[in-house]
Amino acid sequence: MIFRGADVVFRDGVRQCDLRTENGKIAEIAPAGTLEGEGWDLAGRTVFPGLIDMHVHLREPGFEKKETIETGTMSAVKGGFTQICCMPNTKPVVDNKVVVTYIKARAKEVGHCKVHPIGAITEGQRGETLAAIGGMKAAGAVALSEDGKSVRNASLMASAMLYAADFGLKCLCHCEDASLTEGKVVHEGYYSTRTGLKGSIRAAEDILIARELCLAESLGLPVHICHVSTYSGVQLIREAKARGVQVTAETCPHYFTLTDEAIQDFDPDTKVNPPLREERDRLAVEQGLKDGTLDCIASDHAPHHEDDKNVEYDLAAFGISGLETSFALSYTELVKKTGLLTLPALAAKMSANPAKIVGLAGGEIAVGAPADLTVVDLGEKWTVNPAKFVSKGKNTPFKGMEVYGRVKMTVVDGEIKYRED
Ligand code: DOR
Repeated sequence: MIFRGADVVFRDGVRQCDLRTENGKIAEIAPAGTLEGEGWDLAGRTVFPGLIDMHVHLREPGFEKKETIETGTMSAVKGGFTQICCMPNTKPVVDNKVVVTYIKARAKEVGHCKVHPIGAITEGQRGETLAAIGGMKAAGAVALSEDGKSVRNASLMASAMLYAADFGLKCLCHCEDASLTEGKVVHEGYYSTRTGLKGSIRAAEDILIARELCLAESLGLPVHICHVSTYSGVQLIREAKARGVQVTAETCPHYFTLTDEAIQDFDPDTKVNPPLREERDRLAVEQGLKDGTLDCIASDHAPHHEDDKNVEYDLAAFGISGLETSFALSYTELVKKTGLLTLPALAAKMSANPAKIVGLAGGEIAVGAPADLTVVDLGEKWTVNPAKFVSKGKNTPFKGMEVYGRVKMTVVDGEIKYRED
């Protein structure tokens, strides 16, 4: 298959090229207009290395009312993602090889993109006993995480990092001190005071970021920090990186696009964990992305059924359905509006870096690499309309927002898995 004449995003720049794929790999990269044969004319389109989201909730098994592997991966390819890593807070929890095997098998059967399961750190995510890490790795788990909460016991977390390293896995850390977040639904600040909603302070996140950094430094092991939302958390990671701690970190589009101002109408779709914070935090997250403190952008796709969201703010579930807006929000805010990132830098945050952190093949357009491609019309303006999401989760605080960058086609291992029309 030939993909002809697009602006192709390489690691070192953007060039107009023809691409030829064969047997699921990129077989040839040639000057635009030089490759002959059956294919697609993509003049005016931009081709990114297949996007990779390392933080997705697929909800299956157990919460199929919210999302399934089938609908979640359909949502992924519509959003331009060719590979996703799915979090273990399912029912049963992904804490043994049987559940890992189930997810992989189901994804092979009904999935639209590559799915990489993440195993829980502790059995049942109860924070008491380490999960069967070796078995999960053997079955195909690519990382470990207790996402949704932190492992409370620091000694157990240290053991988890040691065992994970023995099996070549990393811990992806959700950072939240439960003693500071219990009963809290938003960030504590001006808007929590005005609305009367209970807020948690930045320290709830920062204390755990600091603990995980200390453990990684003391043990000389790598650690990854999930969905960073505070200015102070960005600074902790920046300082740790500067002194050589093996830390990588992600943030999500909602933390650089919104602030807690969005909660003032009590829209439960703005309820997310960690919470939307202040302008100071939003700007720091952007700077963190620009200077490399934050390595990647993940959606934290957290689809919920309207029964869980269309209720009083205090009772609503935490989370944003993010796969179908992640690319456009990131491109619009970080490239088009602010110029903070170049297109290759955006591709690094949404493809090469997550691939490297989790150890996946892919992440760049090169001869011999998997033919995973995301074809986008960067000039197209569109309005976020959750009714058009293919995800079961329609919960987005971005409804009605105008964004740039429309995914036109998603190619996984050389096969077209999504085409807009
Ligand atoms: O808002 C969130 N929702 N944050 C998390 O960390 C978990 C997620 C979920 O599973 O719904």
